[in-house]
Amino acid sequence: MLFRLSAVYALLAVLTTALGSGVLVPLYIDPADTSCSAWTPLLNAISAHPAVPFYVIINPNSGPVPTPDTGYQTCIPRLKASPSVTVVGYVPTTTGAASIDAVNSATAQYAAWGSAYRPQGIFFDEVNPTSRLLSKYTNWTNTAKATLNDGHGYVILNPGASVGSQTTYFNIADQIVTAEDFYDQFSPSQLTFSSSSPAAKQAVILTDAPSAPPASLISQLVATDNIGSLYITDDTQANGANPYDTLPTQFATFVADIGTDTQ
Ligand SMILES: *[C@@H]1O[C@H](CO)[C@@H](O)[C@H](O)[C@H]1NC(C)=O
Repeated sequence: MLFRLSAVYALLAVLTTALGSGVLVPLYIDPADTSCSAWTPLLNAISAHPAVPFYVIINPNSGPVPTPDTGYQTCIPRLKASPSVTVVGYVPTTTGAASIDAVNSATAQYAAWGSAYRPQGIFFDEVNPTSRLLSKYTNWTNTAKATLNDGHGYVILNPGASVGSQTTYFNIADQIVTAEDFYDQFSPSQLTFSSSSPAAKQAVILTDAPSAPPASLISQLVATDNIGSLYITDDTQANGANPYDTLPTQFATFVADIGTDTQ
């Protein structure tokens, strides 16, 4: 009996370690060339913090292209070389208005990429988590799971806000972005955690943040709340700008803070 209990505790310890908060990176940046120079801060942070999971969203053209250029073909394998990294491909869903076939054919384009640079899952953007659309999103996520990563495609949904009462969406996704906000307009208290809205499946994306990463907020979300993943950037979306066209100025410090809080 004692032996069994200790085995259970050992297993729990392993599971807890495996589920540490990670970094979600909207890498809407062309690697530039086969030296991957535009991705260097990310590649360096991945090497420096092998215990921190990274979920990296690649997005060659507001969605896939049939064959990515040689930069992507060379640089995605460098991301995938680390077991801590999960690469997901960006697919928009136009708040559920897209046809079943349009979204599945975007997923199919990624699935047809060469295995060395093929993403391991899909990041579905512009998600509208209503009960009416659940069957459509279930079809899209099942297609992604079945066709990527040897039948275990990783699925992230981005409604950018709470799913409210539609917690069934947590059953069809590995993670859901439950806040995509201006840093100034976000409070951790707006997140809802329960057995049907697990913290470990929630991701937060904040833009227009101070250039020095906010250590106490990171500690709250990572060490206290244990959310699934987090991205905070000082790049801006104010005035219609794209907040994902550069990595945060102090990306290395941001990742180091997450690494400290998950220990
Ligand atoms: C998705 O829906 C299409 C069209 O109804 C159907 O052919 C396909 O089998 C469905 N895929 C999944 C994974 O449910």
